[in-house]
Amino acid sequence: MNKIGIDEVPVLGKRIFVRVDFNVPMDDNQNITDDTRIRAALPTITHLVKGGAKVILASHLGRPKGKANPKFSLAPIAKRLGELLNKEVMMAQDCIGPELKTQINKMANGQIILLENVRFYEEEEKNNPEFAKEMAELAEIYVNDAFGTAHRAHASTEGIAKYIPAYAGFLMKKEVDIMGKALANPARPFVAIIGGAKVSDKIQVIENLLNKVDILIIGGGMANTFLKAQDIQVGKSLVEAEKVELAKELLLKAEKGGVKLMLPSDVVVAKEFSANAASRVIKVSKIEADDLALDIGPESAEHFAQAINSAETVIWNGPMGVFEIDAFAKGTERIAKAMAECQGTTIVGGGDSVAAVEKMGVVESLTHISTGGGASLEFLEGKILPGVAALQDK
Ligand code: 3PG
Repeated sequence: MNKIGIDEVPVLGKRIFVRVDFNVPMDDNQNITDDTRIRAALPTITHLVKGGAKVILASHLGRPKGKANPKFSLAPIAKRLGELLNKEVMMAQDCIGPELKTQINKMANGQIILLENVRFYEEEEKNNPEFAKEMAELAEIYVNDAFGTAHRAHASTEGIAKYIPAYAGFLMKKEVDIMGKALANPARPFVAIIGGAKVSDKIQVIENLLNKVDILIIGGGMANTFLKAQDIQVGKSLVEAEKVELAKELLLKAEKGGVKLMLPSDVVVAKEFSANAASRVIKVSKIEADDLALDIGPESAEHFAQAINSAETVIWNGPMGVFEIDAFAKGTERIAKAMAECQGTTIVGGGDSVAAVEKMGVVESLTHISTGGGASLEFLEGKILPGVAALQDK
């Protein structure tokens, strides 16, 4: 990463505004149900505490639409962070304002304060310069460690970097370095597995990856549109009719570029979308008019797993079927297992595929699991993320 890291600058005694992504899932009683993103920010926070900085943490939580709302308060996160660090984390009442300024000015070196949800102000998402400046005035240095929000050009992710020196945190650096290397200079064979329901969500990812990979595997609901593009009847399965032509073009592009594009050869089908529906495994050529394809079949899963096992670099984004339902989870589970067995660099990018590797208990066997959902998708699309672009170059 061509950006200056926080480990490259002196931090002792400095007030440092650290944008983290503490947008973690919570249940209805505001219990944190997955603290991965909080844990992922610990290296940067610990580095600053040990270095004697005054650590000012800021994040959004949910989408409160510019209004203060206790349901979206970061207070439960301050508590959890305190437990993880075994150290007091002060909870601020706001993310700007004179009282907060006074509170921060009284902080001792090594202390931590977590600001209240930056999205309680509509100015955050509007990237309002005045609001960004107010936040910047709390600190002397800005650090962005919120890879998960780096695709948003908001006041606390982008605007603020115009007012104080802006550096990358450890998590930001790790995410950009690992995924950046895989895209720019991968060890080969380079295999990508793209799944999920819709082609339309992943067009740019597929187009970008077609210029880079040796093998592109397509599974999940979106595979139906590609099967249809090959004149295979997919019954009642989810198909984006208006994307069939595009799928044809992508198939052609893969062929011309010498990329092996793999689609399911068999599928798990049911007559209705339900956990209790009777399911059966059939070849894709045997899909009946009232069938719904809800997972890849075992033969496809084996072929895909073999391709993954042969890879030196693998990137996976999106499930192979409706993996929330056990009967249709086996394809996704087989991919998670193959990723864990692969000896090469294995990267899981965001969202549902992360849930799958967690469910399979294979997290430890993978090289990297991105903390970004939308951010990792945009990264794989080849976009420059505004939160990264705003940081100071080396
Ligand atoms: C995420 O969870 O993807 C990030 O925290 C960004 O959240 P947002 O989609 O509400 O901007």
